[in-house]
Amino acid sequence: MVSYIETKDLVKIYKLGNVEVQALRGLSMKVEQGEVISIVGPSGSGKTTLLNILGGLTKATAGRTWIEGKEITNATPGQLGYLRQRMVGHVFQTLNLIPTLTAYENVELPMLAIKMPASQRKKRVEELLNAVGLELRMKHKPDELSGGEKQRVAIAAALANDPPILICDEPTGDLDTDTGAKIVRFLLDINKEMGKTIIMVTHDPGIARLTDRIYRIMDGKIISIQKPSESEESNVQMMVQMYKDRLAETNAELEELQVLFNEKRISPEHFAERWHNLKQTKKFLELELHRMGF
Ligand SMILES: Nc1ncnc2c1ncn2[C@@H]1O[C@H](COP(=O)(O)OP(=O)(O)OP(=O)(O)O)[C@@H](O)[C@H]1O
Ligand SMILES: [Mg+2]
Repeated sequence: MVSYIETKDLVKIYKLGNVEVQALRGLSMKVEQGEVISIVGPSGSGKTTLLNILGGLTKATAGRTWIEGKEITNATPGQLGYLRQRMVGHVFQTLNLIPTLTAYENVELPMLAIKMPASQRKKRVEELLNAVGLELRMKHKPDELSGGEKQRVAIAAALANDPPILICDEPTGDLDTDTGAKIVRFLLDINKEMGKTIIMVTHDPGIARLTDRIYRIMDGKIISIQKPSESEESNVQMMVQMYKDRLAETNAELEELQVLFNEKRISPEHFAERWHNLKQTKKFLELELHRMGF
């Protein structure tokens, strides 16, 4: 039986002219109903790409995806529209609030898309803005709100049509630590009180530790799944070993790539793209190991 949310061997290749960017390289994951999970990993490792596939915005090049136990791999545009409007609330890394609309109107917008009756809409927008503590900011436009307030409007808008699943891309990204912690506590309340299943991308280990499970993604693949409750010390040892192994692999891949390029077996564009990604991964691993005292 498949899990509530599941992906199997996802591959995503973006084509830009004659350059191919492989954003996901066989990514598999499972999330159960009612869980809050976090996804952490270096810049460019494929986190947003994964969320866009789960949210029905992007199609994978290969691999399979299930949402609420139903396969969406070959969903029609109509089915994907339903998924986006009713099943998965999406808080984007860039928030995607409409600058000319007020907080109220931004939250109302997804309800208009499903033709919710006016009386119901008003009640629901007010409820949601209350829930995120913005009842006094209803008439403010995004530019007239703080970073944390904008983030909360985006969360309220994602919850507009009461989807069972909420995916959030760096919901604390640009916020100071205190405001970030508040947003996450707020998301944890939404999970408990409204029973939403939540998938959250974060670069903050402190925030990841508040979730049920932590998925680490690197270079388009899940490299580990951890429960924060697992003993801190064995966690650190395991992570250090894994990072060291991955660093050795990355160095070997860089050397191999150089050989392929020297022998003109790959294009300069492909070389540059892959080189950049591997360097990013290497930098991340070295920084993490340094942070852990190695
Ligand atoms: N629309 C696109 N067209 C071409 N390449 C893309 C596109 N979107 C993402 N990529 C590339 O795919 C890879 C993964 O990108 P993605 O946005 O998923 O990373 P990320 O883990 O979310 O990074 P960040 O932490 O910086 O947000 C990167 O190398 C990126 O340059
Ligand atoms: Mg991203």
